[in-house]
Amino acid sequence: MAGSAIGLGNIWRFPYVAGEYGGAAFIIVYLLACAFIALPIFFAETVIGRRGGADTFGSMKKLAPGSGWHRIGLLTILVPIIILSYYSVVGGWSVHYLIRSFGSGADDAVGHFGPFISSVKLPIIAHTVFIALVAIIVLAGVKKGIEKFTKITMPILFVLILAIVVFSVTLPGSGKGVEYLVNPDFSKLSADGIAAALGQAFFSLSLGVGTVLTYASYMRKQDDILFSGVGTAVSDFLFAMLAGFAVMPAVFAAGISPEAGPGLVFETLPYIFAKMGGGLVWLSTGLSLVFFATVLFAALTSAISLLEVGVAYLVEEKKMHRRTAVFSLVLFVWVVGILCSLSFGPLSNVTIFGDSIFDTLDKACANWLMPLGGLLFTLFVGWRMPSADVLDEFSNGGTKPLNRKIYPAVRFLIRYLAPAGIVAIILSAIFN
Ligand code: TRP
Repeated sequence: MAGSAIGLGNIWRFPYVAGEYGGAAFIIVYLLACAFIALPIFFAETVIGRRGGADTFGSMKKLAPGSGWHRIGLLTILVPIIILSYYSVVGGWSVHYLIRSFGSGADDAVGHFGPFISSVKLPIIAHTVFIALVAIIVLAGVKKGIEKFTKITMPILFVLILAIVVFSVTLPGSGKGVEYLVNPDFSKLSADGIAAALGQAFFSLSLGVGTVLTYASYMRKQDDILFSGVGTAVSDFLFAMLAGFAVMPAVFAAGISPEAGPGLVFETLPYIFAKMGGGLVWLSTGLSLVFFATVLFAALTSAISLLEVGVAYLVEEKKMHRRTAVFSLVLFVWVVGILCSLSFGPLSNVTIFGDSIFDTLDKACANWLMPLGGLLFTLFVGWRMPSADVLDEFSNGGTKPLNRKIYPAVRFLIRYLAPAGIVAIILSAIFN
């Protein structure tokens, strides 16, 4: 679950969204959204998935037979596949930058990003390579593919990002970046910013689209839901902050605006690595390789979770062969991903309410569809499932005293606070 949570959302999305909405103040709201809205949803999805023991459709059919609740399954098949389509494009960018680490020049680092993403061939090839890697891992199955890959890469990830943070905060001029992350300026925080913080919390914790639910269906009965949720949320937040401290000081040291948008990480870091090498090509290359390998690993462990939701559905409900399921979903992702990639170039004039195809899909998912899914999951667990069943699942049949003790608080969050919070933020975003 941590592998699913920690990904491009932390390294690529978090720094630039935090940068757009004012840094530290945004982070505080984000932290609150994680603790009081996202975490309860995480619990709700875990309870449904483990008790139902299947994908969203199957779990809902088992827990609420004869009702219409299983229709949420539709949302949880479509949305992850759409997210994966644009996620894979950004995953492709990290493949490109990983390869570009070899013999990359310092001088054109900042200017490279724009022309690259707006070109046609290279980003599409990179997207194809990325989605092919995802397919190979998911084809190998849950235990031998997903779990094994994640268990090996996650610890490496933490070590790598720590090393980069140490480099980044010791750069001359980096102090401003650290300040930006810890000194809140609440005047910069708008209703938009609050909605974006919630969207980021959903995105980063992989919520509202059945990813957590599907992974939870593979959990053992003795596993602790409270520990899994808190552990995932804490490591995810920690990783986002580490990524922030790796990227922001470098942004300021390089003299780039923190509001630079989606290109932030890709523009800043190659520049910094070139400078840090101090003319030693092997050093710049090495640093860049390490960083983009980190990005790529993190992206892969998340992307496989996005694909697995749909695969689980097709295999369990439609009795499809795992291979057929993977191939058909990947084909869809590949085609939509190409459109997303082209929306930075030849298709940039195709806009929906002023946003490009890429931005439209990202905003539709993160700001609307994920919160909607989260809302439905909390309503189901809070109001439809018998409380005794929820407690039974949350405390492993009453064998976890701590879980039993804090259950009333968790129940309150799931029943009232999380749904109310989501609705309030969605409404304020509409009226803004
Ligand atoms: N959380 C992942 C990240 O931060 C992305 C992700 C994986 C995701 N599964 C998801 C996002 C489900 C939304 C929904 O990169």
